Amino acid sequence: MKDIHITVIDKQGNKQELVAPSDMGLSLMEFLKASGYPILATCGGMALCATCHVEVLKNYEQLPEPTNDELNMLDTLPEVFPTSRLSCQIKLTEETPDLEVAIRGELEGE
Ligand code: FES
Repeated sequence: MKDIHITVIDKQGNKQELVAPSDMGLSLMEFLKASGYPILATCGGMALCATCHVEVLKNYEQLPEPTNDELNMLDTLPEVFPTSRLSCQIKLTEETPDLEVAIRGELEGE
């Protein structure tokens, strides 16, 4: 099994390096929540709420392309970046590159 190294930058600018499993069928959103980032994820990972928005800072181009549904949802955000993704639409698999992401979505209690 290949581990995926994921550097996460929270909204306060704190950086943390995490190691994610590639064999548990998790999305990046689920992994971030399990790691203690209180992402709202109101839609439960259906690409319908955009609260799981992340900006991918490393290896964006190595990820599978976003679907039209994901791009349309990102379009509804007031602030979007050239490498924005919905973290619920990034599945963690053996093919997933190491990543660096900044949390840009909505967190619980905000
Ligand atoms: S969790 Fe709602 S769009 Fe990702």
